[in-house]
Amino acid sequence: EKGGYDHFMLKEIYEQPRAILDTFRGRMLANDGIIRMAGVDDNIEKFLNANRIIIVACGTSWHAGLVAEYVFENLVRIPVEVEYASEFRYRNPVITANDVVIAISQSGETADTMAAIKLAKSKGAFVFGVCNVVGSSISRETHAGAYTHAGPEIGVASTKAFTTQITVLTLIALKLAQKKGTISTSEFHAYLSEMDAIPAKVEKTLQSDNHVKTIANIYKDATNFLYLGRGYNFPVALEGALKLKEISYIHAEGYPAAEMKHGPIALIDEQMPVVVIATRKGHYDKVVSNIQEIKSRKGKIIAVVMQGDKTIRKIADYVIEIPDTLELLTPLLTTIPLQLLSYHIAVMRDCNVDQPRNLAKSVTVE
Ligand code: F6R
Repeated sequence: EKGGYDHFMLKEIYEQPRAILDTFRGRMLANDGIIRMAGVDDNIEKFLNANRIIIVACGTSWHAGLVAEYVFENLVRIPVEVEYASEFRYRNPVITANDVVIAISQSGETADTMAAIKLAKSKGAFVFGVCNVVGSSISRETHAGAYTHAGPEIGVASTKAFTTQITVLTLIALKLAQKKGTISTSEFHAYLSEMDAIPAKVEKTLQSDNHVKTIANIYKDATNFLYLGRGYNFPVALEGALKLKEISYIHAEGYPAAEMKHGPIALIDEQMPVVVIATRKGHYDKVVSNIQEIKSRKGKIIAVVMQGDKTIRKIADYVIEIPDTLELLTPLLTTIPLQLLSYHIAVMRDCNVDQPRNLAKSVTVE
């Protein structure tokens, strides 16, 4: 049932090209420049007239929500807030009938997310679900939704759910941007054809597996890790750190790279591996100077870069390449080596990768 893989997590990491394809197949017709998603199309006025979008979720799904915040704001020019469902539900939040709430949940059973949905509905908001499990409680409680087509995710650490959530949310943003005219027709077409190319690029990214394993072996005994990213890849840094914490029990923190100088840089010494996502199109020069600041304090740099990068290769201890793509779509690629890194470190540390201690696949209690 693990399809020849040692663990479900690894199988699910490797399923991502297919999972992403399954998630946009039939919805996105790249050649014709069409995105159709019944849940969005049937409620298009609600989305287009929304004052703002509030995204509620927990854990990895919350990280997908953060990526979506950058995507929606950039493409659709609509304010987005991303909330931990557990905080939102107890905060007496300001919600109106002109808000669209998007709830993201792989399992569709997370208690806090469910409670946030009920609260939003009671205030008259339109609530849209992005779930993986068909017929789950959240998919039934929401007014409309779009499923991720990741297939069953068995490993407790979420992998393919994350990338397919980003895929669905990006499709929605592109659809709305096209309708609203907030991006040009040529940009719209460029995004569609690049999205179409993503499964093959994820496949290509997976080829770094052995190289990532070598890096894992070097840093497997570290007691702390930092993960840094900016823009679209700031949430990926958070997600990379969460994966490492969950399955290898190594303390890790994700930060926006520029926040380093406001505190975390004090942690840097020769014992500290720092994973930096440094794609060429995302504030590249600034990330390069962040890397230099870390190096001058003897930190170890593992950089995720775009293929052909020369600048960072010279200063980083290790680089992992991803294929070139549009910056907005890079999280779908930069996430992959971080998943593999946490996986290999956990295996090397003899951890129970698929069933980490203290964790459950669906958190149905608050
Ligand atoms: C992380 C992880 C958890 C879940 C969170 C939300 O790998 O598995 O952080 O992402 O419990 O779960 P769902 O998406 O099912 O609501």
